[in-house]
Amino acid sequence: MNYTKSLLLLIIASIWMFSCEQDEKPETYYDKFHPGEIWKDNNGVHINAHGGGVLPHKDTYYWYGEHKIEGIEGNFAQVGVHCYSSKDLYNWKDEGIALEVIKDDPNHDITKGCIIERPKVVYNKKTNRFVMFFHFEYKDRWYESSRAGVAISDTPTGPFTFVKSYRPNAGVWPQNVMEQHKDLTNRAEKSYYRGGPGSLPAHADSVNMLGSHYDVGQMARDQTVFVDDDGKAYHIYSSESNSTIHISLLSDDYLSESGVFYRIFPNSYHEAPALFKHNQTYYMLSSGCTAWEPNEARLSSAPNIFGPWTEIGNPAVGYNKKLDLGPEKTFGGQSTFVLPNPRSKRCFYCHV
Ligand code: DGJ
Repeated sequence: MNYTKSLLLLIIASIWMFSCEQDEKPETYYDKFHPGEIWKDNNGVHINAHGGGVLPHKDTYYWYGEHKIEGIEGNFAQVGVHCYSSKDLYNWKDEGIALEVIKDDPNHDITKGCIIERPKVVYNKKTNRFVMFFHFEYKDRWYESSRAGVAISDTPTGPFTFVKSYRPNAGVWPQNVMEQHKDLTNRAEKSYYRGGPGSLPAHADSVNMLGSHYDVGQMARDQTVFVDDDGKAYHIYSSESNSTIHISLLSDDYLSESGVFYRIFPNSYHEAPALFKHNQTYYMLSSGCTAWEPNEARLSSAPNIFGPWTEIGNPAVGYNKKLDLGPEKTFGGQSTFVLPNPRSKRCFYCHV
């Protein structure tokens, strides 16, 4: 074969390969966000990742969230935690189920039908591992277990291996404990939170919720993990029957609590904490406690992660035309994660 012929063949082969790549373009392509509309993945399927969080890692974003199914069973984990990847935050590739519920062992913590909510994944540089935290509830016990779940993986897309579920900070007092909490004769007999606006426990502040759970570990419902610039990670969870937020420093491997934690916003009923940092100030987006009913978003800030925290108010503006809902109901959503835009210091993406 002479030189001209082989060059021609090479050109034809390149054109053919290029057109094949073109054929593989995703079902759906976005060049901007479309608020209020169904967001599809690369296969044209509705993205299924509720209560999600985004991990930027190398040149890719990973979105983890609860895979929900329709119907009455939908609140309980039937499938697990779904993962998607993206290069631009608009177009998401389905990476499958990163943490699967266990289908053949009814005694396993994450057996099908348990509750897995608000999964968040962080990367630990020291161990080179991806660590997933989530709100975990044992099957058939509704929200009374109030635990944290932990799973790990060597790769961002998983599969993640379940490590444990636990109540944080058993046998440890917070740094800002009050003397009244150490009175263990004043214990709550039960967790008061039943969900729904009518059940907000006005009387919970008269009961020693913190001391009640000193031995077994603190209640942890809505939760998130925040990694600071120095690599230290913090576990932030709605505790004490949702009345008070705890901010707890994690161990260096991010797999357990370090024993250092603070109570913030005592008896103020925050759920849905999402932390971010801007110009050396810490911000927390959260909500009130009205079960599955939307309410007003709440923004707070602090010069140090452990406080003092100050509530600023509702940062939401705008209107959801489809649902006819405005900022007083956070457009029908609830905070779950805030992603600072790596390309702009003034832009933050908020997942609700
Ligand atoms: C509100 C929380 O933010 C959700 O994650 C969920 O736990 C519901 N409460 C349950 O009522």
